[in-house]
Amino acid sequence: MREFSTPAELITYRKEMTKSVGFVPTMGALHEGHISLIKQSVAENDKTIVSIFVNPTQFLEGEDLDSYPNKIAADLKICALAGVDAVFLPNIQAMYEKDELTITAPKIKGFILEGYNRPGHFDGVLQVVLKLLNITSPTRAYFGKKDAQQLFMIQNMVKHLFLDVQIIPCEIVRESDGLALSSRNVYLSEKERLRALKLSKALKLATKMVMTQQFKCSDITLAMQEVLEDTKIEYVEIVDREFNHIEEVEIKNTIILVATFVGTTRLIDNIWI
Ligand code: PAF
Repeated sequence: MREFSTPAELITYRKEMTKSVGFVPTMGALHEGHISLIKQSVAENDKTIVSIFVNPTQFLEGEDLDSYPNKIAADLKICALAGVDAVFLPNIQAMYEKDELTITAPKIKGFILEGYNRPGHFDGVLQVVLKLLNITSPTRAYFGKKDAQQLFMIQNMVKHLFLDVQIIPCEIVRESDGLALSSRNVYLSEKERLRALKLSKALKLATKMVMTQQFKCSDITLAMQEVLEDTKIEYVEIVDREFNHIEEVEIKNTIILVATFVGTTRLIDNIWI
């Protein structure tokens, strides 16, 4: 497995490759969710590149940029075992100039839900993902559905800027008790981890309601809020797959999303119906 720390080196490596390239961007602290993205990329492409970069521009003031879990040695082992061909590990100076042009997420869909609660977050995500896509020029890039709105923002960027890459959405990976995998789960105490199960419980209840023909979104979100009552809810929202607010669940065109604080840890989860 090759390791690169500057964009120039990776661009040269990529130029020598004529075959299909899969790209998995990450911020490290790799877990089974990342591993499933990597495995899918390895299966679908001749070569796979993984980036590990904790991108400062997508963190808000007061968020966990400085304490974001760092497990670089383990991450490299995971990548090697999963069959990754190259890992990109740049530092901040390699990725950013002092005075840069910026990208702004779409004014409406980029400023609801995550965009509303974490203003500026998507601008930073789009900025770094565009850089990483330009550096790696992948055939396919893999993103988890857990960050559903991020995935939607990236699909939009690819469409709006006519980028030549296929974005592959990947399924959410959960612990056996339902907790969606996240690098931030390590922040949870034992008690908080139990409370964190309320997110997947609320989504399960929502699915059950839909399965019993209860399609009214306000009824579903109310029932979910009851399940989540001892957490600090940021939003429980039901949208179509273009992130438009809807009144009734539309089968095969709906995402039910939740964001909540358990203690000081912000967790998100969703289900595609
Ligand atoms: O989902 C993430 O881990 C990050 O937002 C990404 C896509 C790697 C950009 O920094």
